Amino acid sequence: MAKKVIALANQKGGVGKTTSSLNLAYALSELGQKVLLIDFDPQSNLSMCFGIDRPDELKTTIYDLMVCIIDEKVLPNKSEYILSFNNLDLIPCSIELSAIEMSLVNVMSRELVLKMLLDHVKADYDYVIIDCMPSLGMLTVNALAACDSVLIPATPQYLSAKGLELLLQTIVRVKKRINPQIKIDGILISMFSERTKLTKEILNLMNDAYSEHIKIFQSKIPMSIKVGEASYRYKSIIEYDPKCKVALAYQNFGKEYLCNGN
Ligand SMILES: Nc1ncnc2c1ncn2[C@@H]1O[C@H](COP(=O)(O)OP(=O)(O)OP(=O)(O)O)[C@@H](O)[C@H]1O
Ligand SMILES: [Mg+2]
Repeated sequence: MAKKVIALANQKGGVGKTTSSLNLAYALSELGQKVLLIDFDPQSNLSMCFGIDRPDELKTTIYDLMVCIIDEKVLPNKSEYILSFNNLDLIPCSIELSAIEMSLVNVMSRELVLKMLLDHVKADYDYVIIDCMPSLGMLTVNALAACDSVLIPATPQYLSAKGLELLLQTIVRVKKRINPQIKIDGILISMFSERTKLTKEILNLMNDAYSEHIKIFQSKIPMSIKVGEASYRYKSIIEYDPKCKVALAYQNFGKEYLCNGN
């Protein structure tokens, strides 16, 4: 059994979901954990991080697998749809996934399609990490239904906005109706710039407002141009420059995550 299925979710775009999925996966694999990444965003950014420039040319993506589940067909061989990159495995995604929301309209248990799919693969892993798209639509609901816990990447500016409330409401709704076991691991602050006074003020405010109910991880991911450089070279930041502050921050976060009993 997988120890844990984690969904990285936030309907706000560009808050570090994909970067954190990749680098948390990499950090956990360095700590001896076997990790499967699921690209669950039709933008396919996570697949592109692995050098898949033309995801639409892939034979089998998460879309095809979900269609198999919907049509109750036998899944292809794992070797056909799980791509391996050194220590990390990936189920890639293409733009086709954006069509699935329509296909799901008349499907029974449409919130559970991803869960049914993961039930076939998760036993081989310690962690399955789902990189969600920036929306609270049916795809994200599928991810929330399939996961054991949610990790919320957020930038300090975003924390003070209304959006977080909306995400939390969605998680509560999913917990009530579909996935009673779901937990919130916490908020991972990304693109953090310690020097700005505003960032500090927002963080203090947010600690006061949320930290009683939701953990805000100690490890915070700083802002650095190295992140862009690493993705340009199809590498995790930890592979690209293991000594840089973002790489160290993700490694610390990986340790903190495991130490918290996750
Ligand atoms: N710590 C960081 N420092 C600087 N740039 C970063 C950092 N983390 C992410 N970025 C950059 O910010 C952009 C958004 O990051 P990312 O793609 O991880 O966010 P996302 O939440 O997955 O976005 P989307 O909602 O579009 O899927 C990317 O260009 C990424 O390279
Ligand atoms: Mg993304």
